[in-house]
Amino acid sequence: MMIAGNWKMNGLSADGVNLAKEIASAVKETKRTCEFVVCPPFTLLSLVKKALRGAKVALGAQDCHTAEKGAHTGDISPVMLKDLGCEYVILGHSERRADHHETSALVKTKAESAHNAGLKTIICIGETLAQREAGKTIDVCSKQVRESLPNDAKAGNTVIAYEPVWAIGTGKTPTASEVEEVHAQVRKVLSAKLGKTEAGKMRILYGGSVKPSNAKEMLALEDVDGALIGGASLKSADFMAIADNAGCRC
Ligand code: PGA
Repeated sequence: MMIAGNWKMNGLSADGVNLAKEIASAVKETKRTCEFVVCPPFTLLSLVKKALRGAKVALGAQDCHTAEKGAHTGDISPVMLKDLGCEYVILGHSERRADHHETSALVKTKAESAHNAGLKTIICIGETLAQREAGKTIDVCSKQVRESLPNDAKAGNTVIAYEPVWAIGTGKTPTASEVEEVHAQVRKVLSAKLGKTEAGKMRILYGGSVKPSNAKEMLALEDVDGALIGGASLKSADFMAIADNAGCRC
């Protein structure tokens, strides 16, 4: 089970350090069996890395460039993230697909560069409300997985996150059977690409308004291997309660 926090563009130094320290001590305090990841904004990566010292919480970034280095003003390369101690990078989040016009082809190239730098990737997919209402959810999500998945994808370096765009930050979530349907389809697409065994091992996270109150139901579903959490990851108590409700405490 993976419990990943996407802090998005939130937090100044003191907030980030406090939040990371609270999460680190909660993870250390009891035996929790989840794999924890926190993904702060670029500006907090070094500080959060220090604050997490000694705790089994991996550090992740929220995006990276395709290139290792060069004339790309304002961008951050995967090698730089690795150098700061990141283990993961989120790619293709719907906010980046929408705000920065990122295509699945670009996400795929970014993922391959990230893997070359030694990072693992959390690749996001998900339909908009209009696409869901038009009955296109399965087609849209399948296409995004097929086109975003890097050629070197393996269970050990790639995680998929299904995040319906209309569920992000809205308090709305799909029904359990809708989540199961998409996750099963993602697994099927992965199987066709990677073979059944590798696809069976690859983690598929659900994201979109995950809270302590719905974590138990969402994370018990077939083919749901964890959660990518936005808003609720900014409060350590909520973040840890989601993990506990998902059955991560021994
Ligand atoms: P949310 O965001 O939990 O605030 O809905 C999830 C995400 O965008 O990763």
